[in-house]
Amino acid sequence: MNDEVEPILIGEVDDIDIGSVENFEYEDINYAIYRLESGFFATEGNCPCAEKTLLSESNIEGEELECPTCGNKFSIVSGDSISDLDQVPLKVFEVTEEDGNLYLNI
Ligand code: FES
Repeated sequence: MNDEVEPILIGEVDDIDIGSVENFEYEDINYAIYRLESGFFATEGNCPCAEKTLLSESNIEGEELECPTCGNKFSIVSGDSISDLDQVPLKVFEVTEEDGNLYLNI
């Protein structure tokens, strides 16, 4: 987390269903915001390979996402690639909750 950047308001807690992911665009950069049983998480919005697939279109299973283009699996919590260990990990960001609102810390 960069302490010089104020947390960015994403929306309200109820905007995202448990077990789903939404794209959030901020200053022309995509972020994928996930709501899991274990809480809210965020990763960069596009996969790190050349395809740049939008991760908000991924399939979510527990704390893992499956890239809709190639099937690679990543940990939503750590960003690590699970199925292709040579794959660059996803950047992860902190999501905080306050008074029913969600904030992204980049
Ligand atoms: S197409 Fe990039 S990780 Fe799947």
